[in-house]
Amino acid sequence: MKHLLNTNDIGRDEAVLILDTASEMANLTDRSVKKLPALRGRTVVNLFFEDSTRTRISFEAAAKRLSADVISFSAKGSSVSKGETLKDTALTLEAMGADAVVIRHSASGAPYRLATSGWIEGSVINAGDGGHQHPTQALLDAYTMRRHLRANTGDLSGLKVMLVGDVLHSRVARSNVALLHTLGAEVTLVSPPTLLPVGVEQWPARVAYSLDEDLEAQDVVMMLRVQRERMNEAYFPSAREYSRRYGLDSERMARLPKDSLVMHPGPMNRGLEIGDMVADSDRSVIVEQVANGVTV
Ligand code: CP
Repeated sequence: MKHLLNTNDIGRDEAVLILDTASEMANLTDRSVKKLPALRGRTVVNLFFEDSTRTRISFEAAAKRLSADVISFSAKGSSVSKGETLKDTALTLEAMGADAVVIRHSASGAPYRLATSGWIEGSVINAGDGGHQHPTQALLDAYTMRRHLRANTGDLSGLKVMLVGDVLHSRVARSNVALLHTLGAEVTLVSPPTLLPVGVEQWPARVAYSLDEDLEAQDVVMMLRVQRERMNEAYFPSAREYSRRYGLDSERMARLPKDSLVMHPGPMNRGLEIGDMVADSDRSVIVEQVANGVTV
């Protein structure tokens, strides 16, 4: 696989290989010197046209741990603000000898365009494109589930995973549904009808409208961020009403099985989709998800 653009492109064997390799890499985290020479002499460019905390620092830390030279570029403060196109930015990176480009962009398909345009020779990794895909988030989420719930076999078959909230705007949901289905997990999407995308019935997931329906049966509940920055109309009556119907609070968390996980890709809207007590509880692996991102 030269590029990583979409979890729909990842087969089961490839996904398992990535997750197994990540398990090997996790040993590096425990060492005092966290360096491997795998990417020595290679240049990795982090090209972020959209804001990021977790993904951006994870990619930077991971590339440095593999001894790559890392160039971090953010659209703010660059010539993009003077109107420079993706093509001209890409040609500039090519001139710098980029072996890999990690790109986050608000436009769905921007990483695909970069990978197929011929503007650059190197590998392209999608770090989130609009509401489309976030494949490395799905991989780190699957890795986190494996580590906690299927440590012996690594097999996610039959795992019950509920994704709750703003599915409509969520690239995390799209990537997770595809990858978890490939890995054999059973996914349920819980959302208000207004926050479900057209065609969701074609996704390999069950759809439900009530968070209270089947909590007792879930191995994982992943809360999705309400993406207010992508909303140009009212999708629910009020934040209070949303939180009451679709927020994960302590009462709901108490109904989950004892060993189940609470996940969130971050950044969280505390008090909206997830309560403070839940986010900071023993059940929550939200901070660990970030560390696992570096490993993956
Ligand atoms: N999960 C995630 O993509 O977070 P950032 O937007 O902070 O990178």
